Amino acid sequence: MSKQSVQDTQLVEDTGIKNLRKRISFLEKEVLRFKKLLDIGQAFQSEMDIDNLLPLIIEQTSDSIGADRCSVFVYNPEKGILWTRVAQNSKPIVIPFGQGIAGWVLENHEPLIISDAYADPRFDQSVDAKTGYHTNSIAALPLLNRRGKAIGVFEAINKTNGEAFDDSDIDFLSAVSAQIAAAIENAMLYTQLLKTFESFLDVMAFTIDAKHPVARGHSRRVAIYSRGIAKEMGLAQESVDKIYWAALLHDYGKISVPDSILQKAGKLTDDEYEQIKRHALMTYRILSRIHFAQHLRDIPLIASEHHERWDGKGYPFGKKDEQIPLGARIIALADVFDALTSFREYHSPMTFAEARDEVISMSGKSFDPRVVDAFKKYYDKELDPYKLRKTLWKSMGK
Ligand SMILES: [Fe+2]
Repeated sequence: MSKQSVQDTQLVEDTGIKNLRKRISFLEKEVLRFKKLLDIGQAFQSEMDIDNLLPLIIEQTSDSIGADRCSVFVYNPEKGILWTRVAQNSKPIVIPFGQGIAGWVLENHEPLIISDAYADPRFDQSVDAKTGYHTNSIAALPLLNRRGKAIGVFEAINKTNGEAFDDSDIDFLSAVSAQIAAAIENAMLYTQLLKTFESFLDVMAFTIDAKHPVARGHSRRVAIYSRGIAKEMGLAQESVDKIYWAALLHDYGKISVPDSILQKAGKLTDDEYEQIKRHALMTYRILSRIHFAQHLRDIPLIASEHHERWDGKGYPFGKKDEQIPLGARIIALADVFDALTSFREYHSPMTFAEARDEVISMSGKSFDPRVVDAFKKYYDKELDPYKLRKTLWKSMGK
């Protein structure tokens, strides 16, 4: 073989090895990305709380495609804005609909790769001006819901190797975005359902208070006091919420008591008093007809036992101490504290301090001593009339 032929063969071999190395390096990257995608998929399975989930996902995604920062924008059609539900290394950003790259992607339902942001007229430079960041390259994709409607945008900014994003990045982002869109849509549906449920219970409480005008706001105040005591006892948030809702509805059974008895200014006859007492059982019967989620299922029981006493002298069952659900023991105290400090047909209101002492004097008789201790702490922290007024206004959404 001539010297030239040997050199040619060598060249072909070198080129082949070079190409092979390139191919291996490409495949290694793809395997790593695929593995990352599996990790991300696993995160979607194991983390249900979207506020914990999204930061985790965008961290892993920006790692995988080599982006400096990633953001998830969510579209709010009522306000006509896109806002960052999660923004990596950045303060929250709000963009009017149709503006900037994210606005364009949302409107056109198309992914976009931009290698030089400042050369693209769709790029909104004002965001950089506000944040002091410099955007070079961008990859952006619409987040599509099950019906193919864009509900937000996933945006990756500045490839860390200085190059532009490419189609393989878009492929990766498409797979992640589909899961993010599903998670966001589920979270939105859940929030809507929760709001509907809460407003429904709120209306129920308002209705019962309207039936007894002198007790206006009673259910809401009892709910707020009960929540304060429950928190002070260190209960889990789920239990605190449950006790709040039970307290809000504790008197719902009064719907069955004639107005002439409920609003009677003079002394009640024995028979009338018996009719009033029946409201506790009626609360149970009515609330049992509501479908509560599993973790709220004992709301009817908690709400209906708010007239039981620690010493067993209450009603409707005469249960005592820990036979009574803790939530009901808390509501019992909150109910009496509010009755003492409010105007009623049969008494003028006590001051908060007088009612506090009265309630403390009933420890171990009407009330669970542990609940009384928590109430004392809650009272010292929260129950000055100014703070309370603020809490009540806030709870009414004002
Ligand atoms: Fe009651």
